[in-house]
Amino acid sequence: MTHNIAPAAESATTRTAHRRRYLMCRPEHFTVSYTINPWMEPANPTDTAKAVRQWEALYDAYLGFGHEVHLIDPIEGLPDMVYTANGGFVIDGTAYGAKFRFAERGPEGPAFMDWFRDNGFTVADPVEVNEGEGDFLLVGDVILAGTGFRSTGDSHREVGEVFGKEVVSLTLVDPRFYHLDTAIAVLDPVQGVENGGPEKANIAYLPHAFDERSRSILAERFPDAILVSDDDGAVFGLNSSSDGYNVIISPRAVGFEAQLRERGYNPVMIDLSELLLGGGGIKCCTLELRR
Ligand code: ARG
Repeated sequence: MTHNIAPAAESATTRTAHRRRYLMCRPEHFTVSYTINPWMEPANPTDTAKAVRQWEALYDAYLGFGHEVHLIDPIEGLPDMVYTANGGFVIDGTAYGAKFRFAERGPEGPAFMDWFRDNGFTVADPVEVNEGEGDFLLVGDVILAGTGFRSTGDSHREVGEVFGKEVVSLTLVDPRFYHLDTAIAVLDPVQGVENGGPEKANIAYLPHAFDERSRSILAERFPDAILVSDDDGAVFGLNSSSDGYNVIISPRAVGFEAQLRERGYNPVMIDLSELLLGGGGIKCCTLELRR
């Protein structure tokens, strides 16, 4: 699918949607029964049927864009399993398994690894605490890795060994943005073969979520990045998913929506307000299965 976008003021931009393969988990057992991030408030009621309806809108959007979506069966008693991004990190058919920081999510690690094995992936068993694609983002050929709240620095070394790729460690400092995918969105597909050459994979991020050292690394590596406002960050605007052209974002992230349009992307708004009660959004509900 190629969409030609009307030329912007200075330059014409052509963006291409790439077919993705995703893993999702229907939130049939979704609720907030414990607190492991500042968004979770067990005293506030949750509406599981509404969570399922909102999740289905995301699922349908992916299918509508021609992506392939696989499903893992939800397990009763594991309400956070809907956030499949934390279930592992997958490149070239190898899944680096997750080892969760908090006991409440512990059993999800083996459940996801079983799914990977049953579906033909090679599984790298984790030694170090890490929460999968929540904290590891592939940008071009480099892995951006988050630490500070969940995944450890040792897991950054481990993920680099598993995939033989350069890892850039970034430190998160605001507890509301406890996973890297709440503070950075990868906008473009992997560089190289798939992307056909020199175009650089770009990102959007929330500077405020990082310590100074990480901010300067990001500024140096991604001079063209979209810097997202605190307001858009606070509604989980960055917790979005892009196929290189269509970028699914929260309808509340109005500034980010405009920034994406200016750059020739097609922002698509899907509201996962119910799942935000668990501290997760669009990207959290999406794990990319790269073969
Ligand atoms: N309640 C979950 C947790 O705190 C939410 C996970 C969100 N996932 C993500 N990829 N950011 O672990």
